[in-house]
Amino acid sequence: MKKIVSILFLFVFTVQIQAQTKNNTSVALPRVTILATGGTIAGAGESATKAAYTAGKVPIDILLSAVPQIHDLAKIKGEQIAQIGSQDMNVEVWLKLSKRINEIFKENSADAIVITHGTDTQEETAYFLDLTVMFDKPVVLVGAMRPSTAMSQDGNKNLLDAVMVAADPKSQGKGVLVAMNELVFDARDVTKTNTTGLSTFQSRNFGPLGLIYDGKVNYYYQSLRNPAKKFDITKATSLPQVEIVYGYADASPVMVDALVNANVKGIVYAGMGNGNFNASVGKALESASKKGITVCRSNRAGSGRITLLNEVDDAALGFVVGDDLNPQKSRVLLMLSLMQTNDRATIQKNFFEY
Ligand code: SIN
Repeated sequence: MKKIVSILFLFVFTVQIQAQTKNNTSVALPRVTILATGGTIAGAGESATKAAYTAGKVPIDILLSAVPQIHDLAKIKGEQIAQIGSQDMNVEVWLKLSKRINEIFKENSADAIVITHGTDTQEETAYFLDLTVMFDKPVVLVGAMRPSTAMSQDGNKNLLDAVMVAADPKSQGKGVLVAMNELVFDARDVTKTNTTGLSTFQSRNFGPLGLIYDGKVNYYYQSLRNPAKKFDITKATSLPQVEIVYGYADASPVMVDALVNANVKGIVYAGMGNGNFNASVGKALESASKKGITVCRSNRAGSGRITLLNEVDDAALGFVVGDDLNPQKSRVLLMLSLMQTNDRATIQKNFFEY
């Protein structure tokens, strides 16, 4: 009799422990908030096989319901921040997004954030957030090259992977990440390299940080360019105007002169080779610089660094160089830098540190 009571006790105890473990498992799932902004991942077309579609059509709840597996990885919440093709991404949405992320982390209502975003300007948003999100919890951007209605669409798998990356404790402290096509990239280095291909996202200078396979992320590298010091955009409602001018053979000064007349605060020059310009554009840039417009030399080559005082006498001309940032990311850093200072030495330091 004593033995039967003991066995019974053991059985009840085990069942209780199992139930508790099960509950604890669901409680222990990380809380991931998904902020939706539109893009092809939320795109819809008339046909599963034709290319035509409109970006930013499908709302967040429909996107999430298409990938029920994300609920096995995290406690999910969704929020619609914008519903646009990322060609229309702008400073207003960047500020809204960054402020919302800082707020969510400050009030501790999520452990990680995933942002669904069009791929065209995803890298710019990723870098902007990298420079302005004050917390080192995972923030992962994701998109798709094929709309949600296409045969063999890539959005659902990319979203599942992005949630997995966000929920992984190893993703903490790596700065803002981009998860696309089973690769994880650093926000600073990633760029879109192909107009339509699925493997469009690359980090041309340094490669991806990690690989996603079979529901796991394996990291191999980490960027050293994610300083703890961030730009505080809490009070910002706009950013100083910075525009990009493209360099090419026989370019005229017309574009630079127009920007000077428009009173821009900064010009990123996407130069040839090591950020080079011809004589007439050089003169126009020099004159812009002397009028107080910060000129940052970048390049149109797609990879490599701009080296200071190499072929160009940056010190004499008052120019700064964008290091290995591409023109569109140089613009992001220049806008944020100009929000704080006009001092060229400080701005140059930012380009070598951020
Ligand atoms: C967009 O950037 O919104 C359109 C293209 C895409 O998401 O792939």
